[in-house]
Amino acid sequence: MDEVICVDAGSWGIAWCVDHEGRLRQLGVGPDARRATVDVPAAFYPLAHPCWGEDPLRDTPLRVTHADGMLTTRLAHQGSRVDVDDMVTRTVIETRDEIQPFTVRFCFEADASCGVIEAWLEIVHHETGPVLVQAYDSISPLFVGGEFGLTHFGGGGWAQEWAPTSERLTPGTKVIDSFGGIQPHLQRSPVALLALGREPVTETTGAVLGFSVGWCGNVRLAADLRLDGTLRFRAGANPVGAEYRLDPGTTLSTPKVAMVWSEAGLGDMSRRFHDWIARTGVRQPDRLRPLVINNWEATFFDFDHDRLVGLMDRAADLGGNVFLLDDGWFGTTFPRNDDDQGLGDWQENTEKLPGGLAALCEAAHKRGLDFGIWVEPEMVSPRSELYGAHPDWVIRDARQPREHRQQLALDLLRDDVFDFAAGVVDSTLAAAPGTAYVKWDANRSISDPGSTALANDRQSNLNVDLARRTDALMARVAAAHPDTVMMLCASGGGRVDHASLRHFHEVWTSDNTDPVERVVMQWGFSHVFPARTMAAHVTRMGDRPLEFACAVALSGRFGFDLDLAALDPDELRICRHAVAVARLTQPLVQFGRLHRLLSPAAADSPGAVLAYVSDQGDLAVVFAYQLQDRPTDGDQSVEIPLAGLGTSGTGPARFRAQQLRLDAGAASFDVEPVGAPLEVLTWELAGRHTAGTWLLSAVTR
Ligand code: GLA
Repeated sequence: MDEVICVDAGSWGIAWCVDHEGRLRQLGVGPDARRATVDVPAAFYPLAHPCWGEDPLRDTPLRVTHADGMLTTRLAHQGSRVDVDDMVTRTVIETRDEIQPFTVRFCFEADASCGVIEAWLEIVHHETGPVLVQAYDSISPLFVGGEFGLTHFGGGGWAQEWAPTSERLTPGTKVIDSFGGIQPHLQRSPVALLALGREPVTETTGAVLGFSVGWCGNVRLAADLRLDGTLRFRAGANPVGAEYRLDPGTTLSTPKVAMVWSEAGLGDMSRRFHDWIARTGVRQPDRLRPLVINNWEATFFDFDHDRLVGLMDRAADLGGNVFLLDDGWFGTTFPRNDDDQGLGDWQENTEKLPGGLAALCEAAHKRGLDFGIWVEPEMVSPRSELYGAHPDWVIRDARQPREHRQQLALDLLRDDVFDFAAGVVDSTLAAAPGTAYVKWDANRSISDPGSTALANDRQSNLNVDLARRTDALMARVAAAHPDTVMMLCASGGGRVDHASLRHFHEVWTSDNTDPVERVVMQWGFSHVFPARTMAAHVTRMGDRPLEFACAVALSGRFGFDLDLAALDPDELRICRHAVAVARLTQPLVQFGRLHRLLSPAAADSPGAVLAYVSDQGDLAVVFAYQLQDRPTDGDQSVEIPLAGLGTSGTGPARFRAQQLRLDAGAASFDVEPVGAPLEVLTWELAGRHTAGTWLLSAVTR
C-alpha cells in the first residue's frame, strides 16, 4: 500500500504519496486533495518536487552541486511526522539522497481555521565538504490540464508599489523576481494569485490560489506552463546571484511560502489571508492602531524644536494619538539637514533640538500625544562619524561601493554591526523614555554585494544570510520593546512581506500618497495584507481635493502627514470631520472583514468601492472613490451590491445607511432614512476625485 501524506488546511489540501522507489509524488492540490487516494500505481503521478536531473523538460525547484561534483539529486522518502497543536498541523516529510548523505525536509504548517498552508524546505547534509545549493524554491505544485491566469503586483520602483497586472498564462515561463536585497518589494511584491480555470476569477466566484513569500530579501515566483496544459509553479527566495555554499552539518531553511486556495473568488482568499495574518502574523493584532501625525511631508528636514511643538499643538487640537518625528533629528558633526550625511550618528542634533528628543517627548505628552521617532538602523552615510570610525562596516567588495541616496548599507553579518544596529533603537528610545512608536526605514538597495564576515568562497551566501540576519535584528528589537508600536518602511513599501510583518504592527504602504494612485495601490495591497497594517496618511501629494485625500486614507490605518499649521479654516474643518469619521470607522476598518465591491480595474468602472463589515455582519463602512469623470449623458448613479451584511444567518435584514460627509460646507453626518432590506447602495456620482462614505448599521427588528 503506497503511503499517502495529506496536508489538510480544512477547505483544501496538498496530497503527496510515496512510490515504490521512495520518490515523493504529487497526488493533488486543492479541495479534493484533503482526502486523496492512490488510484493508479504511485509512480504514475508527477514528482512532487523534482531535483536537477529528474525532469529533463523543465527547470527544477532544487538544484545542488554536491561536494564531490555530482550535479544530480534523487531524494527518497525516509519518514514523515505530523504534530497537531490547537489550530495548526505541522507535517515534516524527511527525504535523503539515494547516494549522498544529503537530506531535505519538506515542512508544512496548515492552519485549518483560515485555510492557509505555509511550506518550506530544510536542507542539511554530511558530505565531505560544502555543497553548492543553486536553486532552492520552497514550493513547486503542479497543475494539470487547465487554463491559468496570473495576477501579480510588479511595481516600477519607488512610489510605484502594488501596480497590478492580470494576464492569461501562455506556454513558457513567467517569472516574477525581485532584486536589490534590502528593499526588493519596491520592484515586485512577493505575492502572486493563480486563477485556476478558463473564466476570470471575480471577487466572489472562481478558484484561485494565492501565494505570499515571507522573505525580506529577493524573491522569485515562476509559473512554467507547457503546451500540454501542465503548469509547475515555483516560489521562494530568488537564487540568482545567491547560490548558497552549505557546510556539512548546517541547515539551509528556505522562506516560508503561504498559500490560500479559495473556490469562492478573490474576496474569500483575501479574508483568509487577513484572518491568518491577524491570528499569527502581526504584532498585537487586536490593538487598535493609533492615529499618527507625521511631520515628514510637512517639514522634510526643515524643522527645529519650536516648529515641531507648533505642529504638536495642531496635532493635539485635531485629536491625533501619536506625533511621529521623521528623518533629520540627529547628527552633530554631520548634521542631518539633508539626505546626504549623518546616517549612523544617532545622537540628537542639539542645534535644532536643544532639549533633545526627551523635551519633544515631554512636549507631546503634555499635549496628550504619544511620541514616535524615525530610525534607519541598517544604514550609514559616508559623511558620518560612524563611517569615519568604521569604514569596514559596510556591505561592499574590493571595489569602491556605489552610493545610493548618499548612503551605504551596513553589514549586519558582522556581530559588531548587528549589535550596533540593535542598539540604535535601544539608545534612541532610551534618550526619550516613554516614546511609544518607531518607524524603521531602509532607503537603499544593495549594489555591490560583499561581506568581510563571509569567506571568499561564500560571498554569494550574502543575500540569504542577510535576509536571515535582518529578520533576527527585527525580532530582537521587537522583543526588547514589546509595547512600542512599530512601523516597517523601506522607501515606502519596499519590505512588505508576511514574515517581516510578524515583528511590526504596520507598514508604510508607499511614499506615493497621491490619493488617486493610492486607491489602486491600497486595492492591490489588500489582496493579502489587512487594513490594520496599511498605514495611509493624508498629504498634499497630487494636489487633490483634501476631502478626497482624507476619504482614501480613512480606508487604511488613518493618519496625517501634512503641514497642519498651514491649513485654512475650510481645510481644518475637513480634517476635523475626517478625524470624527476615523473615530467612528477605524475599529471597523482595522478589525472588520474586507469586501471589495467595485474594482478600479473593471471595464467602465467609475472608480473603486470597498466595505469593511463587522464579524457579526451588523455594521459596515463603505468607501466609494470616483476616479473617472462621470458620463456626460446617461445614468449618474451606480448601484453597488453589498456583500457580507447580516451574515450571522439570523442576522437583521434592515440597515440604516448614514452618509458621512467630509466636505467643509456640510454637517458631519447626513442621516439618510432607514432602508428596507439593504442589498444595494446607490452611489450618486459627483465628479472625478470625489468620494462617498457610508456607515451601515443593522436596525433591530
Ligand atoms: C523614506 C520614507 C519616507 C521618509 C523618508 C525620510 O523615503 O519612505 O516616509 O521617512 O525616507 O528620509
